[in-house]
Amino acid sequence: MIVVSGIAEYREARRKMNLSGPLVFVPTMGALHAGHGALISMARGLAGSAGAVVASIFVNPSQFGPNEDFHRYPRPFAADTALLNELGTDLLFAPDVSRMYPAGPAVVTVDPGPLADVLEGAIRPGHFRGVCTVVAKLLAIVTPDILILGRKDYQQQAVVKQMIQDLNFCTSLVVAPTVREPDGLAMSSRNRYLSADQRPRAAAIYQALQKGRDMVLTGRADTASLNALMTEHINRAGLTVDYALACDPDTLAPCAKYVECPVVLLAAARLGNTRLIDNLLIEK
Ligand code: PAJ
Repeated sequence: MIVVSGIAEYREARRKMNLSGPLVFVPTMGALHAGHGALISMARGLAGSAGAVVASIFVNPSQFGPNEDFHRYPRPFAADTALLNELGTDLLFAPDVSRMYPAGPAVVTVDPGPLADVLEGAIRPGHFRGVCTVVAKLLAIVTPDILILGRKDYQQQAVVKQMIQDLNFCTSLVVAPTVREPDGLAMSSRNRYLSADQRPRAAAIYQALQKGRDMVLTGRADTASLNALMTEHINRAGLTVDYALACDPDTLAPCAKYVECPVVLLAAARLGNTRLIDNLLIEK
């Protein structure tokens, strides 16, 4: 695996690859786990032997709020590069903040549009502007044929999909399924913040989503009752719910009085200082 930290250096390495197959890109913030690993393996499969797999590791300051975990976000770079190498990554782009934002925060940024006003966007103002801006920058640098994002961050993939469509990026988006721990907790770099006492309780988020799914699949689900069922299950485990809602998978608008499939159930909850998100798409 080639590791580069500069933009000119990346462009030179990309040119030298002289590809006859697709360049498949997996952007990350590092602290890699099996969820990221599944994205890399999927990328390897899509790239084949004629294409290439590019990953990036960049903890992007512009998507963190002032009181969020940018400074304590884990940065186990040696373990991350070992995993990427083992899974067949060809090229790792790992810039530092001064390479991505040499003159300080970007002055021209991407307006993420109305999909970013709700859910995570309502609780984390500016988050999706930061995500869209860095993803746009990474797409301009990496120039991939295919971008892989995880469904774990449902709203993120929806906002980025809209950006790719509206700004005509020459990249197709592939969304990968969520990888979970044996008890159902969605894998996340932030899970390592959880104490031994908190960790088993965190599984309540996925359990609540499953209860919600059961309700949707067994008949006509009343939206208010469904949302209350999920919220109560998470609260009972001692987490603080930010939201637990049934929404339209495309517009992210909350369901009207009754839930109609397809629907996405989205939840966010706090456990101590750790904020966790998860979702379940029900297509039926
Ligand atoms: P990060 O949280 O490191 O996630 C990188 C990619 O891995 C995202 O597409 C995310 O949805 C996916 N991912 C995380 N956990 C997953 C899981 N359990 N199963 C499947 N996929 C999972 O998301 C970001 O970084 C950043 O916002 C980024 C897109 C890199 C822009 O800075």
